[in-house]
Amino acid sequence: MRKNIVAGNWKMNLNLQEGVALATALNEALKDKTVNCDVVIGTPFIHLASVVNAVDTTKIGVAAQNCADKASGAYTGEIAASMIASTGATYVILGHSERRAYYHETAEILKEKVLLALANGLTPIFCIGEVLEEREAEKHFEVVKSQIESSLFDLSAEDFGKIVLAYEPVWAIGTGKTATAAQAQEMHAFIRETLVAKYGKDVADNTSILYGGSCNASNAKELFSNPDVDGGLIGGASLGVDKFMPIIEAF
Ligand code: 13P
Repeated sequence: MRKNIVAGNWKMNLNLQEGVALATALNEALKDKTVNCDVVIGTPFIHLASVVNAVDTTKIGVAAQNCADKASGAYTGEIAASMIASTGATYVILGHSERRAYYHETAEILKEKVLLALANGLTPIFCIGEVLEEREAEKHFEVVKSQIESSLFDLSAEDFGKIVLAYEPVWAIGTGKTATAAQAQEMHAFIRETLVAKYGKDVADNTSILYGGSCNASNAKELFSNPDVDGGLIGGASLGVDKFMPIIEAF
């Protein structure tokens, strides 16, 4: 059966020392605890190797927030999936709406990134989600379906089985405006049906679908209690152990 996952996305926050301190403190907080979900932290690239060393990676998975759409070579400033894997990180967040909107990542580019992540043994946490105008125009299901189809549906069932999805309605990211538990469940159930139609019930049932967008200690329990919400991708509330731990413990 699918895993519950609480993943932090630090975005472009915390310098190296602050990041290692946060990872160390989270590691300490989780040391003698049994929790009912996998815990992941998504750090800036330059923190990855140090954060991997600072945590017990059997308890905390480490994620990059992006990877290049090329394997290696003359791509100044880019970071390859193989380089991420070489740090000991095991996940990579791909297709975040901030990457799509600000860095013009298209479905085609994301397709390449997913393939490279998988080829290097990384688990993609693949983000999808509509903007406010799309929801208001009642196009949110269509948009999300198309984001999944266009970047992921050329994968074999075996490879698709390695993907974690994160539904992040763009209007809920960093706005303090969360999708209601009913809105989240409705979309997650729709996503799972879409997966059933393409890959069958087993693959769909085994795919973790996380919710992201102003998820915090006070709403996590209600969101996670929905049958198709398998955890969260947490931005702001992952930047402190005091805020992140209660979300982990919501399971
Ligand atoms: P917030 O939790 O800050 O709204 O961010 C969500 C997000 O974008 C996680 O990837």
